[in-house]
Amino acid sequence: QGLHSLFVASGKLFFGTAIDTNNFDDTAYQTIATNKNEFGLYVPENSQKWGPIEPTQGQFRFANPDSVEAQAQNNDQIFRCHALAWHSQLPSFIANGTWTRPLLIAALQSHITIVMTHYKSRCYSWDVVNEALNDNGTLRDSVFLRVLGTDYLPLSFAAAAAADPSAKLYYNDFNLETIPAKADGAVRLVKLIQAAGVRIDGIGFQAHLTVGGTPSQAKLAATLNRFVALGLEVTLSELDIAHNKLPASARAVEQQAKDYVTAVGACLSVPKCVGITVWQFTDKYSWIPSTFPGKGDACLFTANFTKKPAYTAVARCI
Ligand code: XIL
Repeated sequence: QGLHSLFVASGKLFFGTAIDTNNFDDTAYQTIATNKNEFGLYVPENSQKWGPIEPTQGQFRFANPDSVEAQAQNNDQIFRCHALAWHSQLPSFIANGTWTRPLLIAALQSHITIVMTHYKSRCYSWDVVNEALNDNGTLRDSVFLRVLGTDYLPLSFAAAAAADPSAKLYYNDFNLETIPAKADGAVRLVKLIQAAGVRIDGIGFQAHLTVGGTPSQAKLAATLNRFVALGLEVTLSELDIAHNKLPASARAVEQQAKDYVTAVGACLSVPKCVGITVWQFTDKYSWIPSTFPGKGDACLFTANFTKKPAYTAVARCI
């Protein structure tokens, strides 16, 4: 038994993890990562982003994400793909270029078309647009918004729909779980895309949560259901629950377990929540401490690959 096999038995499609090729030579890590009962889906943590995959315009580096996909295929795991239009981890030719509207449209469309065609019919889903919103629900500043206005949203989804009819097309963002104004912004974004007659299939709730700062299961489920009501499926796409203070107290460790159960329970309670992906399963490789100094220990396994109370509680609640 593992988290994925338990989740599948509960009617979900997957319980997955972010992973990338820099983790591959760690044998203790790989023992867990290649156990498909534990993790039934991979998403590349970094290697499919625009900067790594198209560092120079028109020159693509597929080797690393191809290796992630190959390991997924070897283990009979689903492959989730991430991310196409995003303001972060952009190559400098995009971020620092002087763009006219037609040239940026061409660059964006060809990036989406070439990358999605490379993985055609092999990605369960693509994060087509990532993190386009500010916490107050307005659209976030980016080269795409500055040059193309809101058109870049339907334009990206239209290019994605044309490139791979079989991939689910997702909008993915953080803090939608915790900030109602941001969820309002995401509802407006979905409606804008739908009003343009363009396909959007799902919302990825990143769910980068904090211990003690996780909304109740009912509130989380209600937020997910706002998007189900728009005809979409939903997923917790990058789940981790960070301690604000390290080392974590025994009480905080228990609270983390409760918060994980709350998040997993919310997905279980929403039929259109297709699955959950954790953003790495071990503290050894979590992005949290380097990005948010002082925070950490956000994963289900310790840095030594032992299961935390959060793991045990999640397995028990599924
Ligand atoms: C993070 C990675 O985990 C880090 O290794 C990298 O340095 C920065 O990006 N939202 C996303 C993810 O959509 O792509 C981010 O991943 C975490 C926040």
